[in-house]
Amino acid sequence: MKILVINGPNINMLGIREPDIYGKQTFSDLLSLLEKTAAEESLEITQFQSNHEGQIVDTIQAAYGVFGGIVINPAAYTHTSVAILDALKAVSIPAVEVHISKVDSREAFRQISYAGMYCEKTIKGQGLDGYRQAILYLKEKYG
Ligand code: DQA
Repeated sequence: MKILVINGPNINMLGIREPDIYGKQTFSDLLSLLEKTAAEESLEITQFQSNHEGQIVDTIQAAYGVFGGIVINPAAYTHTSVAILDALKAVSIPAVEVHISKVDSREAFRQISYAGMYCEKTIKGQGLDGYRQAILYLKEKYG
């Protein structure tokens, strides 16, 4: 099974940005975790990170007919982007939303998730392990 992992703005700053909220593990640690999970679970995992909303939309569109599942942490675009929601609906690929932090207990503006209106599951507050959990869910259900 081919799974696409998409990370939105500032996820490349993991380990540096607000470690009290996002932890001390780095973006490079996340990439290693994805590689390890791919090897252990015999999956093909592709990771894409961008700080630009349009590039994320382009990447979701290009996933059509290529990937069997999407794991997405839209980061700040979670709370603003109808374009990312519409792209997910357009390609209709099974998707799981991940948030590293405990968004439920944070600011009011973080309580709405547009991508989450499409995703069949949301994993929050599990740190980087949330990505692994999302991948395992997609493998179990669609692999
Ligand atoms: C985040 C939560 C978002 O509210 C925030 O804008 C992020 C990261 C998370 O993984 O916890 O950049 O998606």
